[in-house]
Formats: sequence, structure tokens, C-alpha cells
Amino acid sequence: MSANSHNDRPAPLFSPACIQNPYPTYREHATGAPVQRLSALPHTWGVFRHQVFATLIRDRRLSSDRTAELFRSYDPHLAEFRDFHGHLKQWLLFLDSPEHARLRRKLNAGFSPSAIQLLRPRVAEVAQDLIGEFGDATDVDLMCSFAHPLPVRVICRLLGIPMALYLRCVKLSDDFAAWFADPRRSAVTARTAAAAVLELTEVVAETIRTAESSSDNELMRVLLELEREPNAVSREALHAQCVLLLIAGHETTRGLIGNAIYLVLTQAPEVVRAFDDEALLRSTVEEVLRFESPIQTIGRTVVEDMQYEQVTVPAGESLFFMIGAANRDPGQFPDPDRFDPRRPHNRHLAFGGDDHVCLGSTLARMEAQVALRSLLWRFPKALLRSASPEWYPGFRLRALRSLHVQLEPN
Ligand code: HEM
Repeated sequence: MSANSHNDRPAPLFSPACIQNPYPTYREHATGAPVQRLSALPHTWGVFRHQVFATLIRDRRLSSDRTAELFRSYDPHLAEFRDFHGHLKQWLLFLDSPEHARLRRKLNAGFSPSAIQLLRPRVAEVAQDLIGEFGDATDVDLMCSFAHPLPVRVICRLLGIPMALYLRCVKLSDDFAAWFADPRRSAVTARTAAAAVLELTEVVAETIRTAESSSDNELMRVLLELEREPNAVSREALHAQCVLLLIAGHETTRGLIGNAIYLVLTQAPEVVRAFDDEALLRSTVEEVLRFESPIQTIGRTVVEDMQYEQVTVPAGESLFFMIGAANRDPGQFPDPDRFDPRRPHNRHLAFGGDDHVCLGSTLARMEAQVALRSLLWRFPKALLRSASPEWYPGFRLRALRSLHVQLEPN
């Protein structure tokens, strides 16, 4: 257990030391009240236990529109961020029902298990292309050369975004994520994020225009149908969903792919030889999702005073559901700090737990399964260069900054 060197207590929540190893801090919070005020952030409460999370996330006194919270600290500059705020408010992620349910039903069609299964050969092709691009290199940063580009290529191909724009889309999504993932969002990072979202909107607007005139793109067909519905969504709202898909489609999945390679190499290298067993490959990815959840926290806004056991959370406050803590809850997972690729009944909450449960979960799982198998079958003797890698500094995303590996072909 890593602790704060001064007093042997776990590092404070969201501090840099906590971000590098949040689990001792989560464990300490999980022994406290089921819903507790977070001293690290004003107007914010946290849920750390699995059972409380699974119950409260469905509570109708909560709203998914937490965009006001995102902009709370910019009161003096609010006018400057009006368009940015207006764009985010249209994201599926931040809608409440009935708007959410209506839009979600339609979008589900583009991400159904059968639709995703059809993509598997294309994802395998992308993985093979990337492995081919390593050339003769034996020392490779797998975050940079594999985990980052794989999901970007997949989501851009799905949306029909031209390959020449892939790298630009990564840069712009990263600019957005740097702001979104930082609880102490500054006006400077907000400006960069707003500019990034504006440019991404232009990219998707052009992609939609092209798809309208000629498209064999299945996902775009589903998206364009939204405009023809009786309760049609506006073109602006359609842009917002595409920007969301573009960002959500890779910022998280690259974390999952990196975490999977890292955990298998360090904690369970023996499973690589058994990856022709589909069930084991699937359960390994589920355990990665539990053990190092790529999204650590999701938020909701309390719209009506909410009492849970002895605690009352006032309307207007924010509630953080701590995925990373719930997924290590000893009350739910025996021996939670052990990485067990064969773990049974793995009811982790890595993709959330209510109507907003991740739209792309089937795609993300499939990408991680294909990535793990393609890479580690080709390089079963891959060795990590560093035993203690550095994690991305934000508190929402859990992803490695780099993953230097020495590769030796089979
Ligand atoms: C490992 C990868 C991923 C993780 C850990 C992840 C996690 C999550 C979580 C926790 C939520 C719920 C958010 C909330 O309740 O506030 C969510 C929602 C969402 N995710 Fe993912 N996600 C991943 C990959 C993807 C991919 C590949 C896509 C799209 C291609 C995607 C698209 C979405 C969308 C659109 C939503 C909003 C759904 C809604 O509000 O109904 N995600 N994701």
C-alpha cells in the first residue's frame, strides 16, 4: 500500500500521488459514510462502495446534465463559453430522459453486438497494420505506436473521417480530455477545449455532408436517420453526437488496451499461451476493466434533496460515482487487489450502471480482445522496460502515459 510519506495515511483524493496509486485512498473512503462530502472539491459528494453505486446510480433524483458543474468555476467568463456549453448540453451523455431514451434507442442500432461482430476482421486488420509499422524496431512505446492509434483508426473509419485527419482528431480530442479530466479546470484549458470541439465539429460536419451524397457507411446511415424521425434531431445535435462518439470512442479504449497489455505482461504472462480460448480472452479483458478501470469517475447532478441512510445531499450539488473504488470493493469482489483473468461473476461497473451505460462497450471490449491477442501472439516474449510506469495525470481517465516494451518475435 503506497502511503503519504509524512503520516503514513493514504494520499488525499485527486492529489498527484493518489492519481499514481488511488487504491489505498479509495479503500479508506469506502470505510466511511456511503455517500460522503469530498473535501477536495466544493459542492461534490462521492460514492465509493459497489452496492451503493449500483443502487444510487439509478436514482431519479439525479440528472445527467452536469454541464453547469463543468462551467461552475467560470462565472465571470460564462458568456465566452456559451457556444461550448451549448454544444456539450446536446451530447447524449448529458441528456435526461425522455430525450435521452429516444436518442439512445436509435443509436443502439449502430452499436449492436451483431453490428460490432461484423467489424472484428477490420479491427484485426488495423492491429496487424500497426504491428507491421513497428518494422524492425525492438524497443517500442506501445501506447504511442499501438494503443493510441488503434481505436482512433477504428472510430474514424466507422464515422467515415478521412485518414489524413486522424492525427489532428487525436490532438483535438486530447485537448478536450485534458480539460474534462481535470477537476480544477482552468479558463486556459477551457479555451483550448472549446477551440478543439469547434474544430472537431467542422470535421464531422464535412464528413456528414460527404456521407449524405454517397455513403455505404452503416453508422452514418443510422445517424442520418435521426434527422428524418418525426421528433427529428437538429443538424447541430447530430454534430454533437458525432463529436462525442469520436472522443469517447478512443480516449477510453486506448487506456483499456494499454492497461490490458501492461497487466497481462506484469501479472499473468501465462495466459498469453491460452488466448485461443475465447472465454479466457474475454474474461481477461473484463478483469482489466475491473482492476484498472479506464474511466475512474462519473458524475451526476442532484436535482432534489436526496437522503440516503443518515446522509442528505442537497439539490444542486454534484455526486461522483467512483468506478475505480467500487471495482475494488472487497464487499463485492473477493481478494479485490489480485488481478485474476479467470475471475468468476465479475460484475464490474467500468461502463457505468444505468440508462447511460456505455454505448460503445461491445466495441471497446472487442477492440481490446483483438489488440491483446494480435500483439501478444506475435510477441509472446515481450518484456516491459520499466516496472513502475507513469499514469496519465487526470483523475477521470486511468491510462498509462507510455509503455516501453522490448519486442522479440515468436
Ligand atoms: C474501455 C473503453 C470505454 C470505457 C471504459 C467507457 C466508459 C463509459 C462509461 C463509464 C459511460 C457512462 C457515463 C455516465 O454514465 O455518465 C460511457 C458512456 C458512453 N460511452 Fe463509453 N466507454 C468506453 C468506450 C467507448 C466507445 C468505444 C464508444 C463509442 C464508439 C463509447 C461511447 C460512449 C457514449 C456515446 C456514451 C454515452 C451513453 C449515454 O449517455 O447513453 N464509449 N462510457
